[in-house]
Amino acid sequence: MTKQKTAKESMVIMTEMVLPNDTNTLNNLMGGRLMHWMDVVAAIAAQKHSNRIVVTASADSISFKQPINLGNVVTLRSQVTRAFNSSMEVFIEVTAEDIPARKKIMTHRAFFTFVAVDQNGRPIEVPEVLPESDEEKDLFDGALRRRQLRLVLAKRMKPEDAVELRSIFNLDVK
Ligand SMILES: CC(C)(COP(=O)(O)OP(=O)(O)OC[C@H]1O[C@@H](n2cnc3c(N)ncnc32)[C@H](O)[C@@H]1OP(=O)(O)O)[C@@H](O)C(=O)NCCC(=O)NCCS
Repeated sequence: MTKQKTAKESMVIMTEMVLPNDTNTLNNLMGGRLMHWMDVVAAIAAQKHSNRIVVTASADSISFKQPINLGNVVTLRSQVTRAFNSSMEVFIEVTAEDIPARKKIMTHRAFFTFVAVDQNGRPIEVPEVLPESDEEKDLFDGALRRRQLRLVLAKRMKPEDAVELRSIFNLDVK
């Protein structure tokens, strides 16, 4: 197995146009459709990094601050931020563009976690991520904290073992 791969090697850019079948009754993109696209673009990034079958383990909270309108062009960019043993955190950034109006807005940022598995669905080791750009280094550094938070919330880690979170919650303050 390759021991280390750059973050950039996993980058995926996917473009979709919001069509009537993707919308709610207000003619805006359905949240579920966007989450489906996010899952697909992130899964491809995780596959590119690991060269394995991957399954979605978790999706961090996604909030919908502004609607994406019918006819907008939606671009989803994904990249693996950091890999652990069998799991990979994937960052997804979504932009929506009204091309005739020359308007483009960044609408969503989210983190999904994928696990590489063998043919029997058992977790399998993945290469490490080598971050290069400043953004990749920031995402890499924050990934440990985010992993601990999501594992604590999923009751897979004891809060006292989440050492990266201690300073955030002032757990060391007596
Ligand atoms: C994800 C899955 C493979 C984990 O299997 P498991 O038997 O719990 O395996 P482990 O306890 O060894 O965990 C494997 C990795 O998953 C990670 N993981 C498990 N649950 C997680 C969660 N809720 N959030 C983030 N990571 C998680 C673990 O931290 C571990 O990471 P690491 O190997 O990098 O340390 C298993 O739960 C599964 O197959 N889930 C269904 C996946 C699926 O069908 N997704 C589509 C949803 S419809």
